[in-house]
Amino acid sequence: MQDILKDVSEGVMTLTLNRVDKKNALTQAMYGFIADALLEAAAAPGVHVLVLQGDPSIFSAGNDIADFQSRAPSADSADSEVSRFLRGIAAFPKPLVAAVCGPAVGVGTTMLFHCDLVYAGDNAAFSMPFVNLGLCAEAASSLLAPQLMGYHRAAEALLLGEPLLAETALEIGLVNRVVPPSEVNALVRRQALKLAAKPLPALMETKRLMKKGQLAQVLAQMAEEGASFGRLLQSPHAKEAFSAFLEKRKPDFSTL
Ligand code: COA
Repeated sequence: MQDILKDVSEGVMTLTLNRVDKKNALTQAMYGFIADALLEAAAAPGVHVLVLQGDPSIFSAGNDIADFQSRAPSADSADSEVSRFLRGIAAFPKPLVAAVCGPAVGVGTTMLFHCDLVYAGDNAAFSMPFVNLGLCAEAASSLLAPQLMGYHRAAEALLLGEPLLAETALEIGLVNRVVPPSEVNALVRRQALKLAAKPLPALMETKRLMKKGQLAQVLAQMAEEGASFGRLLQSPHAKEAFSAFLEKRKPDFSTL
């Protein structure tokens, strides 16, 4: 898998999104790779922490839009690679740390709701433009975004699809700290090594206790969002939005 680099050292598994020519847009194969890595990291006694990072210029442009366009109606079933990834990240039992620089679009942002620590470059921009693509929220973001930032800010982010810049993300608690982009990966490595040196059972139990009240609700919300998302993917609005993106033009929903 050239599109994601995997490294395990000093108790830390690091996954680096490496499809920079396509702005780290995530394909089915990439979701599957991360889902497998989450399972491997959860089970491996030598892995205490998982780090997710992108490039200093781009975290991720979200789901690959060509992939959306070619997705079969059945592809969003519970055993799809996307679903495996989403459930895996929500239920990951060890600390999960993200380094985010540049745009984090769609699932590039919503996956962060499931990370324990998020460090961002001052060039980070977080956006969830699902509605602009004829789609709905996913990754339980319709539950977690209003909880984190309040209903009205979440509505601005999810209904208008307006980006949150790094400083706002810091203010609302989506990220832990904002630093220059060139320093983010090093900061994340330092924080991950600090976590990796701590007693793993205590870390895992503390994370479990913090998350347990909501895990079932999060998974149920993901399942409901997934069903709606799968239906909306086949809508004429979504098809027009995908074609427009790939043809580098503005979508026209006026006749639909
Ligand atoms: N899926 C597929 N390809 C994508 C992509 C995506 N989500 N995002 C970017 N790309 C591709 C572009 O098509 C382009 O390919 P090309 O060089 O073959 O023409 C290449 O990546 C560079 O993208 P470009 O838009 O020119 O880069 P930019 O720096 O001007 O903008 C983004 C970067 C991330 C702001 C912009 O690409 C973007 O908005 N992408 C779509 C985000 C999106 O809507 N994602 C789905 C969320 S649900």
